[in-house]
Amino acid sequence: MEEGVKNIEQIKSKVERALSPEERERIDTDQPVSNFKQQKLEKEALKNWDLFYKRNGTRFFKDRHWTTREFYELAVDCSQDDSGIKKQVKILEVGCGVGNAIFPLLEENPHMFVYACDFSPRAVQFVKDNPLYDPDRCHAFQCDATVDDLTENIPSRSIDAVTMIFVLSAILPSKMSSAIRNISRVLKPGGIILFRDYGIYDHAMLRFSKGHKLQENFYVRQDGTRAYFFSLDFISQLFSTEDFEIETNEFVHRSTVNKKEGIDVPRIFVQGRFRKKS
Ligand SMILES: C[S@@+](CC[C@H](N)C(=O)[O-])C[C@H]1O[C@@H](n2cnc3c(N)ncnc32)[C@H](O)[C@@H]1O
Repeated sequence: MEEGVKNIEQIKSKVERALSPEERERIDTDQPVSNFKQQKLEKEALKNWDLFYKRNGTRFFKDRHWTTREFYELAVDCSQDDSGIKKQVKILEVGCGVGNAIFPLLEENPHMFVYACDFSPRAVQFVKDNPLYDPDRCHAFQCDATVDDLTENIPSRSIDAVTMIFVLSAILPSKMSSAIRNISRVLKPGGIILFRDYGIYDHAMLRFSKGHKLQENFYVRQDGTRAYFFSLDFISQLFSTEDFEIETNEFVHRSTVNKKEGIDVPRIFVQGRFRKKS
């Protein structure tokens, strides 16, 4: 986080942010870009993410130290069974980027084994080059989660928990179901998906100027990477259809104050846990 920027509060809620009439009008009248451009962006999705990491290296995202606070399944206590015996917890981080979520977890929990995959070969290489990368406790590999068979790298039905942190939003909405189906194959029956991503009407969505809309709630950034902004109904429908039970599904409203610029930026995320039916 930049200097002078502070998170001041975090509120969980089921209620969507209300738009002002001007915001509503701007979103409704924004026309999607041409089909040709949409197809080009889909074809170049891998290249655009790889270029993102070429430009930003490991500097862009901050380490995600909040994951064990928000998802108790990742906390060290969960590596213990009822008789107090430690067991190895196996997790998969999909769209791991340069490892901002996995390295804090590996440091915190000595009983955890982490599989980590990402679209971008450069991001995966950054993970492998991290001094905390230990092949006895971590296996990072490149894949397109929407099509590649994850069982080539991970035994089928072996994973206790999958983390999906700001990754599904980067995937074309019509391919989101295939990604979930693919991930489900390596998850144990009764295993869980821990999910955090952009929420509908987040500040980042409202900030897009005209000419960046691809579909409803799906936008392209200047660098060609894309972001979907989720409603709770959309998520619920998506994961229930793939045979997951929705345990929690809520908005996280976070107010971020930039003291230097004197602005209050209302961020909206979605957070949920979805259990694979046994
Ligand atoms: C916004 S970044 C988030 C990175 C990381 N999860 C974090 O929160 O720091 C989205 C990541 O998803 C990856 N990604 C996009 N499409 C993917 C796909 N089809 N399969 C696997 N990873 C994908 C990108 O390469 C990128 O690293």
